[in-house]
Amino acid sequence: MKSISEKSATSRQALALLIPVFKRFRLRLFLGFSALLGVDFLQLIVPKILKKGIDSLADKSANPHTLLLLAALVLGIAACVALLRFVWRILIIGFSRILEKRLRVQLFAHLVRMDRSFYHRWSAGSLMAHAGNDLAAVQMACGMGMVAAADALVMSTASIGFMLAIDARLTVLALLPMPMLALSTWILSKKMHLHFSRVQEQFGRLTEFARNALVSISLVKGYCLEGAQERKFSELGRTYVRNNLRVAILQGLLHPMATLAGNTGMLLVLYFGGKMVIEAGMSLGSFVAFITYLAMLIWPMMAVGWVANLAQRGLTSLRRIATLLAEQPFLEDGINSRIHWDSQAPWIRCDNLSFTYPGSKRPALQGINAAWPTGIYGIAGRSGSGKSTLCRLIVRLYPIDKGMLYLGDSDVNQYLVATVRKQFAYVGEQTALFSDTIYNNISFGLEGSSKQQVEAAAKAAAIHEYIIGLDKGYNAKVGEQGVKLSGGQRQRIALARALLSNRRILIIDNGLSALDVSTEQVVFANIRRQYRDRLVLLVSHRVNLLSRTREIILLDQGKIVAVGDHASMYATGGLYTTMVDKQQDHA
Ligand SMILES: Nc1ncnc2c1ncn2[C@@H]1O[C@H](COP(=O)(O)OP(=O)(O)O)[C@@H](O)[C@H]1O
Ligand SMILES: [Mg+2]
Repeated sequence: MKSISEKSATSRQALALLIPVFKRFRLRLFLGFSALLGVDFLQLIVPKILKKGIDSLADKSANPHTLLLLAALVLGIAACVALLRFVWRILIIGFSRILEKRLRVQLFAHLVRMDRSFYHRWSAGSLMAHAGNDLAAVQMACGMGMVAAADALVMSTASIGFMLAIDARLTVLALLPMPMLALSTWILSKKMHLHFSRVQEQFGRLTEFARNALVSISLVKGYCLEGAQERKFSELGRTYVRNNLRVAILQGLLHPMATLAGNTGMLLVLYFGGKMVIEAGMSLGSFVAFITYLAMLIWPMMAVGWVANLAQRGLTSLRRIATLLAEQPFLEDGINSRIHWDSQAPWIRCDNLSFTYPGSKRPALQGINAAWPTGIYGIAGRSGSGKSTLCRLIVRLYPIDKGMLYLGDSDVNQYLVATVRKQFAYVGEQTALFSDTIYNNISFGLEGSSKQQVEAAAKAAAIHEYIIGLDKGYNAKVGEQGVKLSGGQRQRIALARALLSNRRILIIDNGLSALDVSTEQVVFANIRRQYRDRLVLLVSHRVNLLSRTREIILLDQGKIVAVGDHASMYATGGLYTTMVDKQQDHA
């Protein structure tokens, strides 16, 4: 058996996920970044125009006409900037959304393909939370992150360049406070992210708590827990507010920090630059342009710290996603897609079948030998004896070694997993229903079936009468996880689905446990009729049902302790006899 790989993906593996999407949308990105550069370029011209205007005012060459022309130019530039901003936003941020969507679909497709052992390690809740946050972080890094990085690079290089061209010494002075600005943004945004994820986690707890309380509302009411629940909820809410306040404080700090650093630079320029205008003949226009460029530098300097965080977070998230995507399903496909069935030979055969759950020490099954040709066969045993495990192995929910389990004429490992699964209809004890109509629940995955077929299956499962008695009949909603139905009704709907699918082999793992005795009899007779020439494995505690099967195996602590038909098993006076006698006492 393969060992579980817990290794997380490398940065290179993670980035490899993005490459195809970037390639596919290269034209879009090229146009987007061109628009972005256009905006930067136009913004950088504005101080030049200002300089021209002011200098013309200073040397008295200005007239209303030239001033109006310059003003119109600034206005025209502003309009172009607005248009180009719109364009890059649509193109680049749109790209990041497309990227996010692709990763999400890829992840979902991967997750639904994973088998049970994977879900023993990853809970659905943590997967949902991680996937949501991680995808958002990647989207952010590939959207605003890339924009800010490109913008900061161009704007800072250009502003510094222009400043240098005006006066090198003044530039050095003006830039002195900038590293502090970048560093403080970096630290603050790192802290902010930490607190922001706490906010998200707390919000998750809050909604989970509310969901739990509402789903188990009858429990809450039954034990008069309303007050206690309210207090706990209120406590959770308080923490949520506290966490939010921390984020607000950090956000509040960020802006003053930037202003402080910017103004310190401004102070230096005002003093030393002012002196230059007075003493060294720097033009007033150059002085104003210089200050404008300096103001333009504040955002890119903040962006550096912010982008560093976005990139780091995005990469960490992408690595987590890549790690999930690198997980392989445990079950390996064979190559055979056809099963040869012989009505005389066993359809399922266990040959010294043993199994231990991943991560568990004690084997759940040990040395099982059994052969089931057509007919109805029983599997009995106390709770925890391994009955469900045996069923799960048969329907290929867990991988098993070669030479232990045969289907038709070959080892199950030789078939495609899907080929094997398509042979089985499985009714478990806990029935999975969707929050949908009864009709859709019965025909789930069998959309090709007709109304008559659906109703026939419901009749066979002895649930048709109940359904047509409902106001909306087959169109009635079953509610969240079937809460509007009794346990027995849910089981019968699940059984109807199984009978409608009409697979070659039917496995009922305690799936009739919530039915009353007379309904159970009716349903059993219907199953026997429908499966006359096929195979049914019936896990049950009920003597009534077991006694009608062709042969029973009795499991205890993962081993077969007795085999035979009901009468002969009962005659031996062992565990089976005790089990039967106990039930008859209760009856
Ligand atoms: N997913 C699992 N991981 C580890 N052990 C399990 C798992 N499921 C069941 N087991 C263990 O395997 C044994 C058999 O369980 P199961 O087949 O469900 O019994 P039964 O259906 O007869 O009540 C029990 O000891 C149970 O604790
Ligand atoms: Mg069980």
